[in-house]
Amino acid sequence: MKLLETLVQTQEFASLPTVAAKLLSMLEDDASDVRTIAKYVEQDVAIATKVVRVANSPVFGLRMPVSSISQAIMTIGLNRVTNIVLGVSIYSKFVYLQTLAGEYLRQFWTHSAVTATLSRALAKLLGQDFQELEFLTGLVHDMGKLAMLQIDPDRFRKLCDAIKGGTDELDAERQIFEATHAEAGEVIANYWKLPPQAQIAIKLHHEVELNDAELTPLLAVVRVADLLAEKHGYSSGEHFDGEITDTIHWQQLIRISKRALSLDEIESSIEPELASAHALIQALTSE
Ligand SMILES: [Fe+2]
Ligand SMILES: [Fe+2]
Repeated sequence: MKLLETLVQTQEFASLPTVAAKLLSMLEDDASDVRTIAKYVEQDVAIATKVVRVANSPVFGLRMPVSSISQAIMTIGLNRVTNIVLGVSIYSKFVYLQTLAGEYLRQFWTHSAVTATLSRALAKLLGQDFQELEFLTGLVHDMGKLAMLQIDPDRFRKLCDAIKGGTDELDAERQIFEATHAEAGEVIANYWKLPPQAQIAIKLHHEVELNDAELTPLLAVVRVADLLAEKHGYSSGEHFDGEITDTIHWQQLIRISKRALSLDEIESSIEPELASAHALIQALTSE
């Protein structure tokens, strides 16, 4: 069966993790106040603890650490906390896949955490405030791959072998799963009602021909972060042979930046950002 058809029928992908789904619906409901929302998230102790740890990690550079969800909402705002909760709960939902492909998953989440961290750093450099949506999108942009792994581990192994053997990644995905991880990611993000900008970025992150409406600032930021992660040795198995500065994403980044920006400047601050990404992984994985 084709991957996208299976995705529609698989329970595992039908719903966003409970806390995150409820949080999104509470946000839509004008009647819910911040205290009720904070109390609700705090009921899920495991998720709430991780969200607080992640919020305190160097990625977000808070001046004063927060100790609870309500304090996090008061300090950084509900929208930011929501995007962090979404990221943390999606991570937690898929962490069990570790038993299927431990080494691959470690590499996958490292790539995702580095992309999330660099997306946040780029947004800051550009003077763009996405309310941590760049963090969430960076963390989950490749999650279509997890769908492939979860739905058919044997075919997933064949896919990895084909890529190692030199087949282009997206071609191999089309041959073996009849869909790319970007297409699968979009289906899931749409099911889960992730913010529309995140859905677009996940869907289009491998497209190289985009019109102005498609090439959103969020997509540009996340894709450049994605390419930087690959370049600096944090690959999720994707290959990119070109120059980052030749991409449409980089050109868009230059256009939206509030100040002059060079790739050299970004790369000179990459080491501390990578250290932040490792701290983020620890915050996400510690019990
Ligand atoms: Fe990708
Ligand atoms: Fe990626």
